[in-house]
Amino acid sequence: MFSYRHAFHAGNHADVLKHTVLLQLLEYFNQKETAYTVIDTHAGAGVYMLDGEFATKSMESDSGIAKLWDRTDLPPAVAEYVNLIKSMNPSGRMRFYPGSPFCAEKTMREQDRLRLFEMHSTEIKLLEENFRKLEAHAAAQGQRATVRGKRVMVYRADGFAGVKALLPPPSRRGLVLIDPSYEDKDDYRKVKVAIEDSLTRFPSGTYAVWYPVLGRLDSQQLPERLKRLAGTDWLNVTLCVGSPQDEGMGLHSSGMFIVNPPWTLKATLQQVMPWLVTALGRDSGAHFTLQVGGETAAPVPLREGATAVRERVAAALNRKTAPKSGPKPAARGRGK
Ligand SMILES: C[S@@+](CC[C@H](N)C(=O)[O-])C[C@H]1O[C@@H](n2cnc3c(N)ncnc32)[C@H](O)[C@@H]1O
Repeated sequence: MFSYRHAFHAGNHADVLKHTVLLQLLEYFNQKETAYTVIDTHAGAGVYMLDGEFATKSMESDSGIAKLWDRTDLPPAVAEYVNLIKSMNPSGRMRFYPGSPFCAEKTMREQDRLRLFEMHSTEIKLLEENFRKLEAHAAAQGQRATVRGKRVMVYRADGFAGVKALLPPPSRRGLVLIDPSYEDKDDYRKVKVAIEDSLTRFPSGTYAVWYPVLGRLDSQQLPERLKRLAGTDWLNVTLCVGSPQDEGMGLHSSGMFIVNPPWTLKATLQQVMPWLVTALGRDSGAHFTLQVGGETAAPVPLREGATAVRERVAAALNRKTAPKSGPKPAARGRGK
């Protein structure tokens, strides 16, 4: 078994992108009364302690949620995401960070279903424990039953294989989140195979794949392969927070590829992404890309507004770091 622990990365810029998009997908599903099922093939622990041992070692949340916590000018979609996290931190101190299972649970309705897969022996225990606590808390408050009512089910199993038995979902409305660690390089192939197979079982489902944007070939090929599977019904968004740093200092860019995206998502992201680039960008290499299938004749530019965005980031960095007399933004510390 691999050693990846998401607690090291919780709340970083890649989580901000992934969880903001996830909430938007769920909000769209919520617009119709009919129940839906969310399948999270790589669930992780569900909740992370930002003041815990792992998170404080890596301080990755400094590149993500920490930069948004005190902002008062959040675009609505980012505000939804930040407010969800604040609802788990009533003291106002940023401490608990919800992973995808809790982002989903807190956004779904009573009638919807959440199916979670996790294989790591420690993570699965934490995931089960976190949902037991949620259940106990809800019961104590006389609120809805979650696990008790089979609303949430946790499987200690391979999500790539397990998703097959759950498709199509009973109501024919469903979202599958595929978020491997890619620690196993075969994950790139497995993601593609899983999407291919899932689309034969449930062609109208919505599928969200998180992926790291890296120099390696399989990372670059993944979105291209997914585009071919999805035909024209896809959206691909990436967020890069800066130029690659020396000494391989962590991930600087990641993407979310959505098959069968809500038609509203593109417009939402056109508003959100330039703002996120400015808020999270650490240098003038920060940018986003947003592409939608079926628009090849007049594509949404690959590096949309890159120059304008660069200028905004530079201006923001200047505001934050430059002494009044100095024209140049100060160089930023590693990962901070
Ligand atoms: C990136 S983390 C998930 C983070 C989570 N989706 C979130 O957003 O909070 C990937 C997780 O997948 C687990 N994992 C790895 N291979 C798996 C597999 N084949 N099936 C299910 N879980 C797997 C790892 O143990 C790890 O906890």
